[in-house]
Amino acid sequence: MTEELVLLERRGRAAWLTLNRPEARNALSLPTLQRLRALLAELREDAETWVVVLTGSGDKAFCAGADLKERRTFDEQQVAEFVRTIRATMDDVAALPQPTVAAMNGAAFGGGCELALACDLRVLDASASIGLTETSLAIIPGAGGCARLPRLVGAAVAKEMILMAKRLDADEALDCGLVHRLAEVGEVGDAAQEMVDALLRNGPLALRAAKDAIDGGMDLPMEQALAHEASCYQRIIPTADRLEALAAFAEKRRPEFEGR
Ligand code: COA
Repeated sequence: MTEELVLLERRGRAAWLTLNRPEARNALSLPTLQRLRALLAELREDAETWVVVLTGSGDKAFCAGADLKERRTFDEQQVAEFVRTIRATMDDVAALPQPTVAAMNGAAFGGGCELALACDLRVLDASASIGLTETSLAIIPGAGGCARLPRLVGAAVAKEMILMAKRLDADEALDCGLVHRLAEVGEVGDAAQEMVDALLRNGPLALRAAKDAIDGGMDLPMEQALAHEASCYQRIIPTADRLEALAAFAEKRRPEFEGR
């Protein structure tokens, strides 16, 4: 039963994770988070998976955030435990070594928006809305939203969104840089696949190293960030893929990377 809550489908070198509770707008219940964390732990160690996509079932919502029906059954201690779990889940997503794409097939509110914020790239259905609406429920974003959103769009926009519990339409989300691109209505899967294809044309170990260089360096002083970048570069110097890219360039052909 819990396996149905989040589906894992492998398409070539990409792993697609689908939140699969469309009747509850893919809300994040505790069992859903547990299933998602188990899959993330599997993918994290999987050298054959070069890109991870997160999406949702149905056409209404990517994810409506924390399961508010389940929440009503929780006492204060259980709420605190849930918040720890959802935060850890988003941290697991952010810590995946592979590049990640949030393919938002519909609305993304609260924890759904936070899930997208933990990904590297975001594409949103042109008819969908997105926001960190927690303050309207007398709580705050607690799965990284208060930390990740201002780093993405700046504190001014983040404060406007969070304090006013704003639901941005797709154009607004694109304009402020919250999402990288919009998909035609109902076409987010195709748009995400295009992004995956573009990623997969690049060296998979280089993608991991570049992600690490950016994420690991972001909050460091410049000198340390540059040293971190240098250590990430060092990791890819001995790789066969680097030599393959040079050979392909010389031979005027597309490189074929193997992830080693
Ligand atoms: N937790 C639990 N159930 C949820 C849910 C959530 N976060 N969001 C939606 N659902 C349930 C609804 O209660 C409804 O259940 P019912 O059929 O038993 O009545 C079902 O999903 C469909 O919801 P509905 O609102 O009718 O769907 P919609 O397609 O018209 O709208 C949303 C979708 C996502 C825009 C809307 O459901 C919504 O705004 N949800 C709340 C989002 C939110 O505030 N999240 C912040 C959490 S911190």
